[in-house]
Amino acid sequence: MAREMILVLDFGGQYNQLIARRVRECNVYCEVHAAENFDKVRELKPVGIILTGGPQSVYRDDSNLPSDEIFKLGVPILGICYGAQAMAHVLGGTVKSVTAGEYGKTEVEVFGTSKLFAGVEKKSVAWMSHTDRIFTAPENFSVTAATKDCPIAAMENPAKNFYAVQFHPEVVHTVEGMKIFSNFVDICGCRRDWKMSSFVADTVANLKAKIGGGKVLCALSGGVDSSVAAVLLSKAVGKNLTCVFVDHGLLRKNEASEVEAVFKNFDLNFIKIDAGERFLNKLRGIVEPERKRKIIGEEFIRVFEEVSKKIGAVDYLVQGTIYPDVIESGLGKSAVIKSHHNVGGLPDFVDFKEIVEPLRLLFKDEVRQAGRELGLPENLVNRQPFPGPGLGIRIIGEVTAEKVAIVQDADAIYREEIFKAGVDKNLAQYFAALTNMRSVGVMGDGRTYDFAIALRAVLTSDFMTAEAAQIPWNVLNRVANRIVNEVKGVNRVLYDCTSKPPATIEFE
Ligand code: XMP
Repeated sequence: MAREMILVLDFGGQYNQLIARRVRECNVYCEVHAAENFDKVRELKPVGIILTGGPQSVYRDDSNLPSDEIFKLGVPILGICYGAQAMAHVLGGTVKSVTAGEYGKTEVEVFGTSKLFAGVEKKSVAWMSHTDRIFTAPENFSVTAATKDCPIAAMENPAKNFYAVQFHPEVVHTVEGMKIFSNFVDICGCRRDWKMSSFVADTVANLKAKIGGGKVLCALSGGVDSSVAAVLLSKAVGKNLTCVFVDHGLLRKNEASEVEAVFKNFDLNFIKIDAGERFLNKLRGIVEPERKRKIIGEEFIRVFEEVSKKIGAVDYLVQGTIYPDVIESGLGKSAVIKSHHNVGGLPDFVDFKEIVEPLRLLFKDEVRQAGRELGLPENLVNRQPFPGPGLGIRIIGEVTAEKVAIVQDADAIYREEIFKAGVDKNLAQYFAALTNMRSVGVMGDGRTYDFAIALRAVLTSDFMTAEAAQIPWNVLNRVANRIVNEVKGVNRVLYDCTSKPPATIEFE
């Protein structure tokens, strides 16, 4: 049975991958391609097309418009925001600029018996973001929704299956958004049989075809993204993949052996480099956070270079880049190796033909789902973000072996208790850090002068801003008791209540 797919034609809007994701949530395969590439449309034979939003104005000479050929293919088309205006413009309607555009949550009213709005509340909130709008709909179109300032908030020609909405159904603020996507995939006649396992199978097949007998190198951080990318590649090329895992000694307790144990189960060459001492030597006497970060990043590259040289020439380098990273580096541009990558940036000299990024189009939770499909254990798949410089930036001041052991033990207790209490599911990130502060305490009958551990737990979805989580007091109390009793060198436990900004999530 041929695979059914919906094609998203990209006009440069910020939410375009989110559209693809919503379609995948309806169990229909979806890809995003440049709007001007009509050959691709013919080649991919989509069962439906979505025209995205974008920053241009359809009436300007230099604007990007869909080829009118797409309207002759006989497949359902949904235009969103700029895509709606482009549909109106190409099919003979008019679009003009308005003095007062709409931005943000807006009440929208739907009317008539549109299939696109089947089951949708008559009045609901939708996300608007536009300064142009459709003034007259093309011939044979009827208007199916309006807002106070936008009389044509949706229009359609149901005989041709052409639908257009001025608002953004892909954004969570559009309350009925998922229903609209679900209705559209039904209009396209989709079977809805696509699953993450299909993504895994297709990606493995494509990688096999592309790489053939080539040699592939992957820098493993032990995080979710690079692990899932590595396992996908191992399924495709087996022993032609070499994974290099540099243990800089600044990982969480038992993390290095856990990662090693997982990867021993796969048919790949796994090289673990124990470089803990080497990193500690480089960090000796260094207290300034940026210097620490630079030293750790640089040393990582040096170790990786040494191993790569031993392996010899490789054809492909695997990166666990996921979609949010792509947005940062600029969609559509060639792959850029980011300096703030989880493995600290990779060297340029490695002799490879190409970078392979099999997760480039997925969001984090989709990557986790792919990891489960590939048989990775839950504790790896659900791993919270962990910075490339590791515990090096969770130890304020100089990093020593003693301090690493203290923070590892305290963090392990904190994570264990949070997990046992079932609080972990709501938290974006939580960890223990070692303040560089000693204070006076009393243990038994004696005076102590030991370190204070700070506990941090944050709620965030974008990690750019965050608020401190309200951990139940009994959990914090238990953690504090266990840490001061079980971790030598700690006599005080503090909870960090600061949001970001003004603080950051990490301590350095
Ligand atoms: P901050 O401390 O800037 O952290 O609020 C935001 C998020 O980024 C993570 N982080 C890093 N991740 N390499 C990474 O891969 C790094 O150098 C790095 N520094 C911070 C941090 O854990 C949090 O999730």
